This record gives sequence, C-alpha cells and structure tokens, in this order.
Amino acid sequence: MRKGLGAFLLTALIATGASAAPDITTCQGCHAPPYGPPLEGVVGRRIAAVPTIDYCATLKAKSNESWTDANLRAFLMNAQGFAPGCSMNVKLTPEAADAMIAYLKTLQ
Ligand code: HEC
Repeated sequence: MRKGLGAFLLTALIATGASAAPDITTCQGCHAPPYGPPLEGVVGRRIAAVPTIDYCATLKAKSNESWTDANLRAFLMNAQGFAPGCSMNVKLTPEAADAMIAYLKTLQ
C-alpha cells in the first residue's frame, strides 16, 4: 500500500518536476498525520523532531542537526542518499529543490 502510493506520487513528482511553482500536493499525499511529519515550519527545525512520527533510523541519527537550506537541498535532491532506507524516495532537480525550499519557507 505504501509502496504503491509512493510510486504513484513519485510519478506525479516527475511529471510536475519541471514546473516553476512546486506542486506541494505530491508531498502532502504522505505528509499528513499520522504518517508523514508536518511540512509547516520544517525549515530550520531539528531533523526528526516531531514526537508523534516514527522516523526511520538514518534520519533519527541526524537529529542533532537542523533542516538548513543545505540539508534540505541534499535530502530533496536524493532522499535515499541523504537518509538511506527511509520511506521517501524523492529526487528533485536542483532547480525544483530550490523552488520547493523557497515554498516551504512560506509555510512557517
Ligand atoms: C512516499 C511518501 C512521501 C513523499 C511522496 C514525500 N515524503 Fe517527505 N517524508 C516521508 C516520511 C515517511 C518522512 C519521515 C522519515 C521516514 O521515516 O522516512 C519524511 C520526511 C521528510 C522531511 C523531514 C521531516 C522532519 O521532521 O525531519 C522533509 C523535510 C520532507 N519529508 C519533505 C518532503 C517534500 C518537500 C516532499 C515533496 C517533494 C516529500 N517530502 C515527499 C514521506 C514522504
């Protein structure tokens, strides 16, 4: 079920990846309670800091760091490279990652 949803959302992401305005709906499919951590206020927040979320081990291992622009960029451009084994398999282009980070900042 999760795998199927992920593949569907990933396809949607690739389809919309080139547009200038990031399509947050592809993220929100997973980023809603109780499954995904809230994206509101995530920029600058500590990594893996929402107590109700069952984070994967590789993100938990980084919980002494914060979601800086650089960490977000690395994660959004290659989620499995930044946090191997996590549920997210997002791979945005550098342009799409920057646009997404700028958008996430408006969700504070
Ligand atoms: C397939 C479902 C899925 C999709 C699609 C997805 N995410 Fe995630 N995301 C997760 C899960 C689940 C976590 C928690 C880590 C884990 O256990 O893998 C997470 C973690 C994160 C985190 C870290 C949150 C924290 O509190 O540390 C950020 C930032 C994030 N995602 C951003 C995004 C953005 C932006 C998108 C859209 C481009 C996106 N995600 C798409 C499932 C998803």
